[in-house]
Amino acid sequence: VNDTLRLAVIVGSTRDGRIGADVGRWAAQAATDHGGFVVDWIDLADVDLGDRQSAAHPRSGRYTAGVAAFAARIEAADAFLIVTPEYNHGYPAALKHALDAVYAEWGGKAAAFVSYGGMSGGLRAVEQLRQVLAELQVATTRDGVSISMAGRRFDGSQLRDDTGETAALKRTLDQLHWWGAALADARRVRPYGA
Ligand SMILES: Cc1cc2nc3c(=O)[nH]c(=O)nc-3n(C[C@H](O)[C@H](O)[C@H](O)COP(=O)(O)O)c2cc1C
Repeated sequence: VNDTLRLAVIVGSTRDGRIGADVGRWAAQAATDHGGFVVDWIDLADVDLGDRQSAAHPRSGRYTAGVAAFAARIEAADAFLIVTPEYNHGYPAALKHALDAVYAEWGGKAAAFVSYGGMSGGLRAVEQLRQVLAELQVATTRDGVSISMAGRRFDGSQLRDDTGETAALKRTLDQLHWWGAALADARRVRPYGA
């Protein structure tokens, strides 16, 4: 059994001046240090999915070239670590656009969240994401990481004033590894197509 999982770290904020890439690098470094993952860094700021939804329903698998390249990376992943800020009590439109762009490639896999924002640490964005990922047939971990007042807490990809976030990230990665590995084993025995 090969217990090294392919983990897609998905950075969900794309605006100029964002801190999302710093938060994502902090999380990706921890995933690498964890030892159970090889990381594919999927920064949505660098992914061209087009401005509009494609004509075909993503369940058809008929993708435009840009979407097909993204779909191949989602297909290759065993697990997802979604890094999201909170915008108006939700998650960024760029992240929804990416989630909606493909379909079958998400299914039967596991995901966990690193969220950030003001006082709420992005938790309202995460609760919305859980609903959407259920529809995409992605299992989400109980634990996650929530970073409040994130705008003043990163020096590059270094987190300042750790109040338990590093420990929470370790716990989250352990859960993600268990679910990701269990589902990867299951997909090998019984390819998921429902
Ligand atoms: C359009 C917009 C809406 C926001 N709404 C919220 C919010 O509802 N709750 C919150 O805690 N922070 C909110 N914030 C603050 C962001 O969480 C904070 O600026 C964070 O750094 C944004 O992530 P980013 O830098 O990766 O884009 C908002 C920021 C923006 C730009």
